[in-house]
Amino acid sequence: MEISPLRLGINIDHVATIRNARGIQNPDPVRAAHLAVKSGADGITAHLREDRRHISDDDIQRLTNEIDLPLNLEIAATDEMLAIALRHKPHAVCIVPEKRQELTTEGGLDAIGGHNHLKPIIDQLNANGSRVSLFIDPDKGQLDAARSMGAPVVELHTGKYCEVSGEERDAELERLAIAAAHASEIGLECHAGHGLAYDTVEAVAEIPNLVELNIGHFLIGEAIFVGLENAIKRMRDHMDRARTRIALPN
Ligand code: PXP
Repeated sequence: MEISPLRLGINIDHVATIRNARGIQNPDPVRAAHLAVKSGADGITAHLREDRRHISDDDIQRLTNEIDLPLNLEIAATDEMLAIALRHKPHAVCIVPEKRQELTTEGGLDAIGGHNHLKPIIDQLNANGSRVSLFIDPDKGQLDAARSMGAPVVELHTGKYCEVSGEERDAELERLAIAAAHASEIGLECHAGHGLAYDTVEAVAEIPNLVELNIGHFLIGEAIFVGLENAIKRMRDHMDRARTRIALPN
């Protein structure tokens, strides 16, 4: 089996979280995106939340103007966000579930129950030239629903895998691997992300059907201690090491 290279998308939301804590200009998430480009990232991810708690509309405009790497814009499936995504035409749009009170994106989108609401949004984004991805739990039914709505990409939520330990973690990893294999079988490009850190990324990077990981919070936190460039490079090293292991089995 041919193992595809694994892309790394850097989520810069939490640089904006720190900026917004003071309501001033610094630290600038777009500067972080420039640094991510320099550090070997393959893409930039930003979640424009309805409450604008981190990334702002102006950040999205500046990312579009200044960054040459593919932009993966994460949005909730609302009319307001759809209009913004259609206007900016980012390389990719990842549709995520969003609840006002949550600290971060909890669980995946309900692609099965949300079919009637999601399908026209996916159709418009597809027609506008953005690659649509649905952020879902590693579940066969959700993958089939994504496929049936014409989304070319899915992103598997790795949050649960990262939170649990021991046998539960093994079981979650197995769920991710089975889901990624099923995604490939039915013709979906498969990404993964949420909660990944140095100690959790390698096992996920060993799943051969994955082609992209999106990582943010851990890297922004780590940047406080070692700098963003070093943090990204070390994450890349972990991913490459895992990928080499599956490309060259003993
Ligand atoms: N992928 C998606 C769809 C997300 O919503 C997030 C969090 O915004 C991430 C990846 C990155 O998660 P984390 O910041 O925990 O690395």
